[in-house]
Formats: sequence, structure tokens, C-alpha cells
Amino acid sequence: MHGLLACFLVPGAVAAQVGETVAEQGRQLYGEHCALCHGDSGAGRSGAFPALDGNERLGNAARVVRAIREGIGNMPAFPALTAAETAAVASYVRGAWTNGLGTVTADAAAAVLDRLADGGPAASVWDGVYTEDQAARGRQIYFGACSLCHGRRLNGAPDDPDMVSTPPLARARFLRVWEGRSLAVLLAYTRLTMPEDNPASLSDEEYVDVVAYMLSMSRMPAGDDELPADSRGLANIVMLQRQ
Ligand code: HEC
Ligand code: HEC
Repeated sequence: MHGLLACFLVPGAVAAQVGETVAEQGRQLYGEHCALCHGDSGAGRSGAFPALDGNERLGNAARVVRAIREGIGNMPAFPALTAAETAAVASYVRGAWTNGLGTVTADAAAAVLDRLADGGPAASVWDGVYTEDQAARGRQIYFGACSLCHGRRLNGAPDDPDMVSTPPLARARFLRVWEGRSLAVLLAYTRLTMPEDNPASLSDEEYVDVVAYMLSMSRMPAGDDELPADSRGLANIVMLQRQ
């Protein structure tokens, strides 16, 4: 069908059509993976996430591609995106809003990515990625730093009835929101924005222990190895609603 259609189209029109599909894919991937932190308008969030609109760093296309695959500073890695997807989302952020920067082709992205180390094996949150001891430590921290707002059942009903409700941190509604994202994204978002009244106030290990407790409360099985605090390891573990 596509080949047949193409016969009737002049090459320029075909190229334009392919370009539109990639642009749409880039916009969609941005919404799924990036807007959580950088915002729909690319404005970021003051103190936590940099603006991508008007950000001079986007001028270096190879650096953008590499930042997406490997992470950079506080930004988590996205090792599961293919070269074509990485190129599409890199092109989107370079061209969106007031950024007038050129697109990155899939070949150009692949050339950069081929030189980077392999991301390692992928896993899901159902593969026994934390230990029971770790979840028990996380529970202590949760009741000290989070339950006031997110509730003792992690359902978003605050312990203090006078306080506004918050998003749940376990079970169906939580998992629906985080479906398809990695634990590196969950950890980075949590670390840089929570507790809402005092972000980044716990140690990396404490944040990761709380995440382990959150997984245990969603009935994900414990395993033999602790969830690591390093972002690269967590970038390979994807959140799924069910096994
Ligand atoms: C969990 C929050 C989070 C998510 C999700 C996220 N980022 Fe970032 N991003 C950050 C933070 C934090 C930085 C600042 C990094 C630093 O310098 O510490 C950043 C920096 C960047 C930069 C500038 C990097 C540089 O060269 O210094 C680019 C480009 C970028 N992000 C693109 C993306 C794209 C594209 C996506 C989606 C695939 C994405 N980000 C998803 C948090 C996030
Ligand atoms: C002072 C109240 C408060 C405290 C304390 C607090 N949070 Fe939050 N949290 C919020 C509010 C409000 C939101 C929704 C707005 C947002 O995402 O910034 C939220 C959102 C979140 C989200 C995103 C949920 C989603 O699906 O959108 C996560 C994850 C989270 N908090 C984790 C934690 C953890 C872990 C702690 C303890 C270390 C904590 N929070 C402590 C108020 C709080």
C-alpha cells in the first residue's frame, strides 16, 4: 500500500511526508518521556529541571543524543529508545518552541550511539529488583518524610485531614501514570521535587529505599539484590502495570 501510494507522489512530497511522521513521533515521545520534567512548553521547573526552550546546550546535536541515551548530571538515561526514536525526540526538542535548530537524522544519532557503551540488560519492576530489608528501611523513611502528604496507605489521602490530597504512590492508579517509564525517571523526579516542602533533602540511598518500599506496596515481588542507587542501573528497569 505504501509503495503503491509512493508511485503517485513526487519524491519531494514523499520526503515531506516522512518528515512529518518523524516530527509527530518526536512530539509524542516527548510527551511520554520528557514533559514530566521539562514541561509541555519546554519551560522546565525552576530549581529542579532546566528549560529546553532557549537552552544553548541544544546547539550541540551529538551532546543531546548522548544525554538522552546515557543521562547527564541529574537527568536520567533513556537506554530503551532506539536510535530512530532518540533522533526523533532530539529533533523535536531542537526545533520546538522558539528553538530553531535543525533535525537530527536516525543515521547521525546511530553514529553517536554506536560509540557509547551498551546499556546492559533490561528488566521490569516485576523481576524482584529490591530486597525485603531495603523495603523495610524505606518504610521507616516514608513514614518520616512522605506519609504526612501521601498517606499511610500511599493512596494520596494525607494523614492530616486538613491537608489537600496528593497523587497515590502505589497500586493501580500510580502504575497507570508511570507505565513505560524507568525507575531512573521515578527516582530523579522524586529526588529533585520531593518532599515537596524540602526537595533533595534525603540521601540517594534513602530515596532509593523509599522507591523499594513503594514497589513492595504495589505487590511487586522482592528479590536477592537491592535496588541500586546509581541512575544507570535504574534506567534499565521499566515500570509496568502488570507482569
Ligand atoms: C526525571 C526528570 C527528567 C526527565 C524525565 C527528562 N529530563 Fe532532561 N534533564 C533533567 C535534568 C535534571 C537536567 C539537567 C542535567 C544536569 O545538568 O544536571 C536535564 C537536562 C536535559 C538536557 C540538557 C543536557 C545538557 O547538554 O546539559 C537535554 C537536551 C534534555 N534534558 C533533554 C531531555 C529529553 C529529550 C528527555 C526525554 C527523552 C528528557 N530530557 C527527560 C531531567 C529530566
Ligand atoms: C508537603 C507534602 C508532600 C510531601 C512531604 C511529599 N510529597 Fe510527594 N507530592 C506532593 C504533591 C502535592 C504532589 C503532586 C505535585 C507534583 O508532582 O509535584 C506530589 C507528587 C509526588 C510524586 C509524583 C506522583 C505522580 O504520580 O504524579 C511522587 C513520586 C512523590 N510525590 C513521592 C514522594 C516521596 C517519595 C516523598 C517522601 C520522600 C514525598 N513525595 C513527600 C506532596 C508531598
